[in-house]
Amino acid sequence: MDTKIITVTNQKGGCGKSTITMQLAGALGRDGEKVMVVDADRQGTATRWSKTAPEDNPFPAAICGLSDAGGRIDLEIKKYIGIFKYIIIDCPAAYDSDIPASALTVSDLALVPVIPAPADLWSTPDIVKLIKKTQIRNPDLIAYIVPDQVTHTKNSGYATGLLKKLGMNITKSTIGMRVVYRDSQLIGGTVFDFKGGKKVTEKVRKAQDEITALKNEIIKILKSNT
Ligand SMILES: Nc1ncnc2c1ncn2[C@@H]1O[C@H](COP(=O)(O)OP(=O)(O)O)[C@@H](O)[C@H]1O
Ligand SMILES: [Mg+2]
Repeated sequence: MDTKIITVTNQKGGCGKSTITMQLAGALGRDGEKVMVVDADRQGTATRWSKTAPEDNPFPAAICGLSDAGGRIDLEIKKYIGIFKYIIIDCPAAYDSDIPASALTVSDLALVPVIPAPADLWSTPDIVKLIKKTQIRNPDLIAYIVPDQVTHTKNSGYATGLLKKLGMNITKSTIGMRVVYRDSQLIGGTVFDFKGGKKVTEKVRKAQDEITALKNEIIKILKSNT
């Protein structure tokens, strides 16, 4: 099996790494793909998230805790090549961790969630630098910023403009600011697991469409790189 490895990383906390990891993993898993999430964060968000799932509706991806692997996480991940179609690594938000650098060396794709807001934009050049440095050793690594918690105000439009100045690819699919993303953790699932009345359905449907679009865009990006 050809395995694609995706590292979701940004030193900034709370920018949406675990959210994008889990929604994407869940969406691919729901399609019947063999997916493994590597929980590389000591906080264990991905692990707890999947454990919250009810017995009759388990999270549709395997979870592997590798937060203690440090700079050897690349070697640990390599053990799963050929077993899973997608390996998605949820990185810690730590400046002093060796994990993102190590994970990126074995990755096909880096996804960098960024909230289009000043403090988040200010910290993004650091991760861009790390990705560019890694690309010298791993020239096949492609990288995309994924705008998360996007709102549609005048200020957010301005911030999105600043995002473009970082000189990175940006996914066309963006993730809006929506309560269902937060609530997905409560039910140990993804936006695809919500059932509800008509009003709920409309809001959930928008989130489902966003995640489906992001998933499809990522599949396309990975295909064009083989
Ligand atoms: N698009 C979104 N809309 C609403 N809440 C979001 C969205 N993305 C993330 N969140 C919430 O923001 C918080 C931080 O997100 P998380 O994915 O855990 O970030 P990270 O893993 O980068 O620290 C969580 O409470 C999460 O539910
Ligand atoms: Mg996280």
